[in-house]
Amino acid sequence: MTHNRQPIITVAGHVDHGKTSILDSIRGTKIQDTEAGGITQKISFTSMPKEIIQQRAGTILEKFKIPLEIPGFLFIDTPGHAAFTNLRKRGGALADLAVLVIDINEGIKPQTAEVIQLLKANKTPFIIALNKIDNISGWKPSESRLVLDSINKQAIIIKQLFDEKFFTIVGALQSYKIDAELYMEISDFTKQVAIVPCSARTGEGISEIIAMLAALSQKFLTERIKTKQEGKGVVLEVKKDKTINYLESILYDGKLKQNDEIAIASFNDVITTRIRNIQEALPLNKGYKTVNEACAAAGLRLQITEKQDILPGMPFRVINNNLEEIKKELSEEVSQEIKTDETGIFVKADSLGSLEALLVLLRQKQIRVLKAEIGPITKKDIYIANSLPDEDKIILGFNLEQSEELEEAESLKIPIITNPVVYKLIEDFEKWREQKQRAIERQKLKDLPTICKITILDFVFRNSNPAVFGVNVDGGLLKHGIEMINSIDKKIGRIKTIQEDKSTVAISIPGVNFERELTVGESLYSNLSEFQFRKFKENKSLLTQDEIRILQEIAAVKRKANVTWGV
Ligand code: GTP
Ligand code: MG
Repeated sequence: MTHNRQPIITVAGHVDHGKTSILDSIRGTKIQDTEAGGITQKISFTSMPKEIIQQRAGTILEKFKIPLEIPGFLFIDTPGHAAFTNLRKRGGALADLAVLVIDINEGIKPQTAEVIQLLKANKTPFIIALNKIDNISGWKPSESRLVLDSINKQAIIIKQLFDEKFFTIVGALQSYKIDAELYMEISDFTKQVAIVPCSARTGEGISEIIAMLAALSQKFLTERIKTKQEGKGVVLEVKKDKTINYLESILYDGKLKQNDEIAIASFNDVITTRIRNIQEALPLNKGYKTVNEACAAAGLRLQITEKQDILPGMPFRVINNNLEEIKKELSEEVSQEIKTDETGIFVKADSLGSLEALLVLLRQKQIRVLKAEIGPITKKDIYIANSLPDEDKIILGFNLEQSEELEEAESLKIPIITNPVVYKLIEDFEKWREQKQRAIERQKLKDLPTICKITILDFVFRNSNPAVFGVNVDGGLLKHGIEMINSIDKKIGRIKTIQEDKSTVAISIPGVNFERELTVGESLYSNLSEFQFRKFKENKSLLTQDEIRILQEIAAVKRKANVTWGV
């Protein structure tokens, strides 16, 4: 027997664009106010039963003749400072639908772009909540709080201002291959993405968001939200209270009863445990109540008997004489998610979901990952990173605190980059890698002589033993010990000392007689062998413009006697 469950809806978008506020407006709560710094720290869920949907969006549902067939919604609020945590279940995203929140005055930000990429990769249908319309100066909210009324009731210049912002964002979305349109203008929801302009502050558009979500669920999710018997879920967070483990989790399919035995995926063997107690989230975040049985979709707090470490983001299943089958399924699911390369860097994250989101984005940038793990960065990790090739000697931590293992990292010079914002993490890494590659290349040139050109000035301090005279450094680097040649490839000698004054550079070269062999105004070059010349040529990108020019002049000097020199 199957029945329809609540669709799971993720609210995602750039930091501060108003995700929590929109949920507050939907729920009639003020959670945003109570958050530390007004920032959402972790994923949370809210269930919204059918009656409340009816109550909040009845008018608009009626207006568009949308019958309400779903049993409710389960909303998931995500932190904007961390990547839209890519909660997964077998065969795709955990979320059935998403609300992408964009501040109309800010437009598409890096986090917005990231969410778009992940939604597309997961093929998750979504609507766009174009929030904070009340911030458009002069905006007057309509009494009905319906944005379709508001838009038409604005003064002409305000409407123009709105249109300008609106079409800029629509245009920007085109570059992500998203064809978006005002929700009431859309004729084909399979081709276009609906935009609902809104304000969490005035409540405009909020009931329209609810109605759109109901309509889309009923149109596109009928198969997806049919739930079966077998209980399936995902662990969001693990809380430890002395001897008891609590799992904050989402049951996305089937049923879960007290005393059921469940299998939870892990990187080693599957962990099995019994459910001691189930607490189900009450509608609209009004706390939890203990239940004997929970049906999908539900946000649950599970008390379990097992004390082993359980990792956030891991999928679980209710066991029903099918442990072997489940084991196979769960281990496949986990190994698929953390597929890594033969070579590459070492990355860690706080949960399976965020690790996977990081991997998706690294893969898009063609950054290879050798090892991907969940949990804090440990001493052992630093030794592992130390055994990797130079360009991979680094650890990336996504959404992780800097650990105490700094000492080893410092003594072994292993950089640890951590950042709760995934695009910044990747940006920092790319910067590091570019510098590192330059350093590695430069190192290759270190054993070569320097490239240098000097011109002899009219300051001859000593004629010979050694000859000492003033020069102008025309380009490159003048270094002690380099051998100099003149413009007909005659060896002049090695530079013994360099003395620098404010205005002049004086050098000494033993074994040369100035009067007989040198003239004021002539140029000297550092001597290169053909092998050295070719090495420089291969690494041209590491040379300065000056160095390249001098290199060409040196080749011209050499080719006077040997036309194929260095070719
Ligand atoms: P994170 O969880 O940190 O990613 O942020 P968020 O996207 O959940 O944004 P949040 O709801 O915390 O809102 C950020 C700020 O914008 C708060 O100061 C809100 O009061 C304000 N805000 C949210 N929605 C609106 C709106 O519609 N109009 C106006 N004027 N301000 C809004
Ligand atoms: Mg928030």
